[in-house]
Amino acid sequence: MAQNKAQNENWGSRVGMILAMAGSAVGLGNFLRFPIQAIQNGGGTFIIPYIISFVLLGLPLVMVEWSTGKFGGLHGHHSTPMILQRLDHHKIWRYMGSLGIFSSIVICSYYCFIESWILSYTVHSIIGTFSGMTEQETSAFFDTYLNLKESTFGIPYDTFISFVVCLALNVYILSNGIAQGIERVAKICMPLLLLFGLFLVYKAYTIKAGEHGAVCDGTEAIAFLWTPPEFDSLLNPKIWLAASGQVFFTLSLGMGAIQTYSSYLKREEDIALSSMTAAFTNEFTEIIIGSSIIIPIAIGYFGVDNVVELTQRGGFGLGFRTMPYLFGQWGDLLSALAGLAFFGLLFFASITSALSISQPFVAFLSESYQWSQKTTSYFIGILLFFLALPCILFFENGVFDQYDFWAGTVALFFFGMVEVIVFSWVMGVEKGWKMINHQADIQIPKFFKFVLKYVTPTMLITIFLAAMFKPKNDDWSLLSFKGWPLDDSAIVAELMHQGMDPNDPNIAYIDGARLFLVAFLALICGLIWHASRIREQRILKQRKEAQQ
Ligand code: ALA
Repeated sequence: MAQNKAQNENWGSRVGMILAMAGSAVGLGNFLRFPIQAIQNGGGTFIIPYIISFVLLGLPLVMVEWSTGKFGGLHGHHSTPMILQRLDHHKIWRYMGSLGIFSSIVICSYYCFIESWILSYTVHSIIGTFSGMTEQETSAFFDTYLNLKESTFGIPYDTFISFVVCLALNVYILSNGIAQGIERVAKICMPLLLLFGLFLVYKAYTIKAGEHGAVCDGTEAIAFLWTPPEFDSLLNPKIWLAASGQVFFTLSLGMGAIQTYSSYLKREEDIALSSMTAAFTNEFTEIIIGSSIIIPIAIGYFGVDNVVELTQRGGFGLGFRTMPYLFGQWGDLLSALAGLAFFGLLFFASITSALSISQPFVAFLSESYQWSQKTTSYFIGILLFFLALPCILFFENGVFDQYDFWAGTVALFFFGMVEVIVFSWVMGVEKGWKMINHQADIQIPKFFKFVLKYVTPTMLITIFLAAMFKPKNDDWSLLSFKGWPLDDSAIVAELMHQGMDPNDPNIAYIDGARLFLVAFLALICGLIWHASRIREQRILKQRKEAQQ
């Protein structure tokens, strides 16, 4: 069979592969999402569940995704539908695998959109747009920026142009393939990201109360993040949900990205040491660097209480609303440099992650339809454009948040749960353990075999059920016999628009976005069915040819 180049590709070097894997993990989750989660969930109170979730959920899933990806790749499969089906031949897993390509491509569409805000903010920082703006003006700039109907400070349709430029850049890199495109970009971006990050960490921790309008020392953030919590607060499932969700997002788990990247490993390559190196590089970047930029700078200028309040407006937007104003306190030159370093760092972090999360769909199309890397990349560019369009046009109506909630939270968590069940129970943990340790350069402690079989699936199922049926006001006392009214943020309540005014015009947009996502998932399942038929026919034809 004449296989195309994309299917036969391998990583060029081990260093490049680990940097690309770490680049996939190190992203906006580390520098924007993690600080906000940590502040919203009480600083020190968040860190302990976060570290436990990293060990008991994150590391086991990293092992599952690396080993199944490599296993699939050795059988010529690079996307989750076919990889899952290789583990157990029942057709159901093929369709469950659709979630891996669904979540990754949907996340990628809004991720590229955020990438475009960053590109635009980098340019605005360099040309001094934020110079002299007040705190309110800086925050209002962000609202205007996202409102496509208005032009941003004389640059018409800034948002849209920036998005198209980012998309074109991503497609260009993707079209150059694994070794020449993705690996090369990771080798350039990751060191630059570290350099910019260290500069900002230094600036953040040297903030002194009373200088340039600061109200606290930057080092106050250390006490906020590392003061051990009261034991009681560790029993709150809400914090566990937030912590485990962050671990998933930051390690790019449940998105099919890690499997696809691992599927390009060669047979003799180790995964035990490489996967742990990539995961710990991400955690270093998240806990040490990610927590040492936004948190100390914001606490330094606003104080702990105000920062906690600010994060309630939440999401990825906090850094855009506040950082340009805070950098402005350091004078024109340093402010431009800090803006360049901060948004430059975010840009490098986001591009390596966006590339990894578009790759599962690229791989699926290449392996199913034998398209070349270039054709597939152009197709993905067009698909991403149309997927992101509702997010861009109806951002104000909550469409962006719907994408982030259903694809960026629920789908990836659910898919992670499916993966670990297939790995540990359907295929069997014994076989899985052999896959993890095949050609391994280090010995993974045997304790993880037990964790993979019992602890990770139990924790994932418990957390998922808790998120579905979270009770009002976090009152988990089942024995209270007070009924079980759902919290507005429970998945089931969210589905029924609980807590929203029934006449809210945004409900139509929210439902529209959900229907669109469901239809897209159905389309992916249809493609999987079609691709399987083509594959079966191809195999039959080859057999016939061989017999003649
Ligand atoms: N892992 C990527 C991030 O943290 C998706 O942003």
